[in-house]
Amino acid sequence: MTSPSSKTGHGENWTSQVGFMLACIGSAIGLGNLWKFPYITYENGGGAFVLVYLACILVIGIPILIAETLIGRHGKLGIYGSFSKLTRGHRGWRTAACLCILSSFFVLSFYSVVAGWTVEYFIHSLTGALSSLTLDSVGPRFGAFVSSPWKQIFYHTLFMGITVALLLRGTRGIEQAVKILMPLLAVMVLVVMSLSVGRYGASTSLNFLFSADFSRLTAPGILEALGHAFFTLSLGFGAMVVYGSYLPRGTSLTKSALLIAFFDTLIALMACLMMYPIIFGSHMELHESASMLFTSLTVQFHSLTGGQFVSALFYLLVAVAALSSTISLLEIVVSFVAEEFSINRTKATLIGGGSVWFVGIFSATSNGAWAWTTNLGIMDTLDYLTSNWGLPLGGALISLFAGWCLSKDTHSRELGLSPNSLLLNGWRLCVQYICPFLVFVVLLFKVGAL
Ligand code: TRP
Repeated sequence: MTSPSSKTGHGENWTSQVGFMLACIGSAIGLGNLWKFPYITYENGGGAFVLVYLACILVIGIPILIAETLIGRHGKLGIYGSFSKLTRGHRGWRTAACLCILSSFFVLSFYSVVAGWTVEYFIHSLTGALSSLTLDSVGPRFGAFVSSPWKQIFYHTLFMGITVALLLRGTRGIEQAVKILMPLLAVMVLVVMSLSVGRYGASTSLNFLFSADFSRLTAPGILEALGHAFFTLSLGFGAMVVYGSYLPRGTSLTKSALLIAFFDTLIALMACLMMYPIIFGSHMELHESASMLFTSLTVQFHSLTGGQFVSALFYLLVAVAALSSTISLLEIVVSFVAEEFSINRTKATLIGGGSVWFVGIFSATSNGAWAWTTNLGIMDTLDYLTSNWGLPLGGALISLFAGWCLSKDTHSRELGLSPNSLLLNGWRLCVQYICPFLVFVVLLFKVGAL
């Protein structure tokens, strides 16, 4: 490893602000919005949970999003390089960065497996293989699919392969991919949502989403909302640090953060409006909300007019959203390998992607026969550890770093705000005290100390 202080920056840069914005929005919008948000909102009773979630996005998400891009643009390196360079190689901060990178490594290893499921469902919707499924047979089919190790490995390999292929071209590759993927995603969300609302109406769903019944809110629900605010905005691992490091001066970090959070939230709510009308309209009993995307909803999509194609469109949509997220997760690892071991991008991408692929095999096979014999759900364990602990902890550390290791002068210059402005001081208050404190309280709660 070369000495950290010897590095000044990498040669990569976004070619346009639009490219940067789309890449960040693409990173933010993913399985978190289309798979996780609808089901955790459903489980937590709707409105009140949505309110808490929105508050978390506003008070914690947006300030930390600004903090991440600011650290990256100021340090001109990924999270490890920036932490190291800006603290002159401080050991503790370098360890913190390693934890973030390691977490993103593990998240990607199982994220890619779930993303792979959408590819199978896309193909099988198109071929009509899912058309004859009923509410009784769809669950067992899904069960058989996730416990078939070879199929799991195949789709995981395919998804990682595409991600690696796009990343081999660096920021150019990311920009080209998101410029196609994001508009495609927007169109597909609108189409699927209109079909679903058109058939079943939106009033019950809107009522569920926006009328707050606080008696349904639980302490674990609040924790989940906070963890999800981090996950959905791609915070806590340094993904936005890396994307910020490719950003030239002149782009407003505050405006970008607001826009990214806005689009991410919009898509999450629209995802609910794709699924809830179907769930409520057909009076479905949802026992398996976590897997509803691949079970009950599959059957219901097929009951819409042109069902086979609606279903295919929907799974393609989820796959596209997932792809722009796997790109950003892998980029955290790749930028670290390339910067710290001073090797070229192509090699770094192959090494990073290859190792994630290898570890992912354990997740891929953990749902199947292997899990039943060892009784160890690797995927669930990793998901639990990373989203409940890794993300908030990483987020708090990044927030503390931005708040305390960078000067007020740097804050004011990077954000283009005068040192006395209310906005600047409000943001500083958030990253120095409020965000770390809230995360700390949440973690104490989790270990049962409160
Ligand atoms: N935000 C993505 C989603 O909602 C997941 C994701 C992509 C992510 N990159 C990340 C999460 C970096 C944490 C850190 O699906």
